[in-house]
Amino acid sequence: MIQNCYESSIWVKQFDNSNDFNQDVLNITKAISAMTPEPVADHNVDLWVSDNMQTIRSYFIEGFKDLCSQYNETPDFDIDSMNMVNPMKHGDFKSCHNHDVIDAFGVYYVNESDEGGKLRLYDPRFLSKKSFSQGPYIEIKPRTGLMVIAPYYVWHEVTPYLGNETRYSLVCNMVFNNVT
Ligand SMILES: [Fe+2]
Repeated sequence: MIQNCYESSIWVKQFDNSNDFNQDVLNITKAISAMTPEPVADHNVDLWVSDNMQTIRSYFIEGFKDLCSQYNETPDFDIDSMNMVNPMKHGDFKSCHNHDVIDAFGVYYVNESDEGGKLRLYDPRFLSKKSFSQGPYIEIKPRTGLMVIAPYYVWHEVTPYLGNETRYSLVCNMVFNNVT
């Protein structure tokens, strides 16, 4: 009998909002970024400063709840304490990492570019993997309105971004309120 063990679920959803909504979120994101000391992505900020940003907060909640449901976890969590804007300029990248303090991470892409900056989410077995699986990672091309949510242990990286216009994403981290 086969039992499915150690599978990893990742939540991906494309939100297709109006151009006005997307432009407003981009403007607010740029404003938050401009008020944040460098390096911007290292600083916790309050993202939920307008109705449209509150809408994105509701998207994150939807995603984190779905992820909890997939893992049979009680959806009792906080998403307001460790959030940031992540501006990527030409040549920026993020090397492969995972997260220890949080329980899950989410990213929402505010604008998009075809030039690099792809999100690679690694199979947790990637260090020793040779068979019984597909490639070592899935690669996601950021699009405006795309949200990705994954458990803390999923190793991930962002390939070098080669666009000229700064690409912004919102990062929202989830922590469970009660860990037993
Ligand atoms: Fe990360």
